[in-house]
Amino acid sequence: MAVPMQSPTPMAATPVEPAVAAAPAAPPAATVAPRALRRFLCLDDFEPAARARLPRPLFGYVSGATESNASLRGNRAAFEEIAFLPRMLVNVARREQSVELFGTRYAAPFGIAPMGISSLTAYRGDLAQARAAAAARVPMVLSSSSLIRMEEVLQQAPGTWFQAYLGRDPQATARLVERVKAAGAPVLVVTIDSAVVPNRENNVRNRFKTPLHPDLRLLWDGLTHPRWAVGTFLRTLLAHGMPHFENVGAERGAPLVARDVTRDFSGREHLDWEALKDIRRRWSGPLVLKGLLHPEDAKLARNFGVDGVIVSNHGGRQLDGAVSPLRVLRQVAEAAGPMVVMADSGFRRGTDVLKALALGARAVLVGRPMNYAAAVGGEAGVAHALALLRAEIHADMGLLGINRLDELGPRHLYFPQVPRGDQR
Ligand SMILES: Cc1cc2nc3c(=O)[nH]c(=O)nc-3n(C[C@H](O)[C@H](O)[C@H](O)COP(=O)(O)O)c2cc1C
Repeated sequence: MAVPMQSPTPMAATPVEPAVAAAPAAPPAATVAPRALRRFLCLDDFEPAARARLPRPLFGYVSGATESNASLRGNRAAFEEIAFLPRMLVNVARREQSVELFGTRYAAPFGIAPMGISSLTAYRGDLAQARAAAAARVPMVLSSSSLIRMEEVLQQAPGTWFQAYLGRDPQATARLVERVKAAGAPVLVVTIDSAVVPNRENNVRNRFKTPLHPDLRLLWDGLTHPRWAVGTFLRTLLAHGMPHFENVGAERGAPLVARDVTRDFSGREHLDWEALKDIRRRWSGPLVLKGLLHPEDAKLARNFGVDGVIVSNHGGRQLDGAVSPLRVLRQVAEAAGPMVVMADSGFRRGTDVLKALALGARAVLVGRPMNYAAAVGGEAGVAHALALLRAEIHADMGLLGINRLDELGPRHLYFPQVPRGDQR
């Protein structure tokens, strides 16, 4: 039988004072976007356009996950398992979706997740994402596997967060942390779900690897995808030279296209809570762990003085079968205490964001759709994608009967079945 998790309390939503200076409803984003982008009405619309634009290995790398894609499917299915219990006859004329994270007020409760080699799928893709996010006043997390120097990104998009993959060498970690500090990133995100390289069969099937190997296949991919070959790849080579992995450590990493170079992923398996102590000591700003799912790990993070966690299964790209963040969010949020809880993996709609917030997240990150939006529309494409999501949240808040995000709670949700994944 269908059991609501918590019965809705009468008058659950805070009654609102008469709307004195009622904010006008945001215009639907699709009507104010540049003409070329108006056909993109929701985040999912960017995917088929990116598929057509990008060579198969690249699109496969972005869209793919790992092994049998169980987590990838679960990430979307989890949202369908929870329904809303909206409240009616609430004056919702003063809706406001700004949110505070680590002392900064952002315009919306979502940001852009870190994605490696975004500047290969879009011309200067890291900058396109970071600049659009800064203009929209939402956070963007620059990946350590990015191809544009963090100093340049932070100069053009102040406030961008930085994500690190850390390895075995404490000296190398120390130098990277110093560089991130000097570059002015306000928040350091350490990804902790990538101890070993996962079995990404799809990369093999799609012939994707980094560094890319200059061979006839690569040439063929370019010839058959001229908009990408000319507009992204050649344009990058001509204007900026061969891209390198610029932010893996304190020094420049491997080039993007090379015959004999391999990228070194070894060492990540040595990262543990002990190593985290050292990072905490060196980085006094907000420290966020990305990629935990277990409430016990949230408790540990709290004890180690971490400021925030991103509940994530890496968009289904690491351990296949890892639980979807939405299913454990409530337990993790309970364990997290005062830490800021965020989530990612599968967020595509305003309603998805509101469900996570009702379960205890303060904000969420969106990955692939932002990559696709940059691939098809550059900075304007990302700006449009962000505006679409923001407009959805604005409308959904009204339909749900809330004016502020902190009014949201489990009482706004209906669970047709008790969520799985209680690991306690
Ligand atoms: C192409 C691609 C590259 C990624 N690179 C990184 C990375 O460098 N560091 C990281 O922590 N997560 C990385 N991720 C995971 C994202 O940060 C995020 O967890 C995931 O994409 C969220 O799921 P979604 O794509 O369904 O929104 C990557 C994801 C994609 C799709």
